[in-house]
Amino acid sequence: MEQIAIDKLIENKTIENLKVSDKSDGYFLVKSYDIKTSNNKKKYIDITFADKTGEINAKLWEYNEKYLQIFQENNIVKARGEVIEWQGKKQFKISKIRGIIENDNINIDDFVPAAPISSDKMYAEINKYIEKIQDVEIKTLVSNIIKKYENKLKYYPAAKKNHHSYKGGLLYHILRMLQTGEKIGQVYDYLKMDYVYAGVILHDICKTSEMDSNELGIVSDYTTEGKLLGHIIQGIKEIEVQAELIGLDKEKSLILQHMILSHHYQPEYGSPKKPMTPEAELLHYLDIIDARMFDFENALKSVNPGEFSDRIWILDNRNVYKMEN
Ligand SMILES: [Fe+2]
Ligand SMILES: [Fe+2]
Repeated sequence: MEQIAIDKLIENKTIENLKVSDKSDGYFLVKSYDIKTSNNKKKYIDITFADKTGEINAKLWEYNEKYLQIFQENNIVKARGEVIEWQGKKQFKISKIRGIIENDNINIDDFVPAAPISSDKMYAEINKYIEKIQDVEIKTLVSNIIKKYENKLKYYPAAKKNHHSYKGGLLYHILRMLQTGEKIGQVYDYLKMDYVYAGVILHDICKTSEMDSNELGIVSDYTTEGKLLGHIIQGIKEIEVQAELIGLDKEKSLILQHMILSHHYQPEYGSPKKPMTPEAELLHYLDIIDARMFDFENALKSVNPGEFSDRIWILDNRNVYKMEN
């Protein structure tokens, strides 16, 4: 295998900072890998490397079965190689690779993309919003449900792919929606904020039982229940059961269930009814705003000032623009 002189190497650069023609030597998390066959019928390994700053596609052209022990998903590896550009994207061409040995000083948190705020802090912040709920019954309901899912919430992403698909992403999504909702409530001051806060906290909480995530916030698949029912119906069932337990007033329970039911707005996105209260309408838009702002921010990360991004599928195939100033 081609060797690269050590003095030209850039040690331990984060993926976000890797530039084309960098010769780098660093640690990466193997997010996924696949054995493929090239046009000239040679096997190679196609890998997605990740660290907490992002992901990069990598290729190991010299296939050897011994490498398969190294390429377990979620394993950390040490790889040496060169960053090249392929079809407008950065790619890491591996020249040397090995698994982790005892002397490697690895902190798993450096490799896992995560929300910018710690989960404990976000969980505490969300509880402050529960404290703002004045209706004691609704407050008890929300507080009981969030406690039930506390452990999973501390690491769950908000999605398998797309918005907030990283460790702590679900809490981050909830927190930012609460913050935005609070501000909007100051403008439209007729809104019943107890319902806005409760709806935001509960709207996606059953994603914790819809998806199967490991503690790194990486989702392997949807659960059987998630595939058959989805987080909207799972969430409604959860409210129904918990409401029964505390003897919640029927109308309050129905209104909350309706908010969860309608938050995706369209039947084709999983909501059989459109919002019929202003709080439910707002919940839907808070959800959209937070997902879109995340997607724009994320898309612009890899774009140079004055240039456009690739087409972003989740943003209706738009190319988004990064301003020069
Ligand atoms: Fe949702
Ligand atoms: Fe959501």
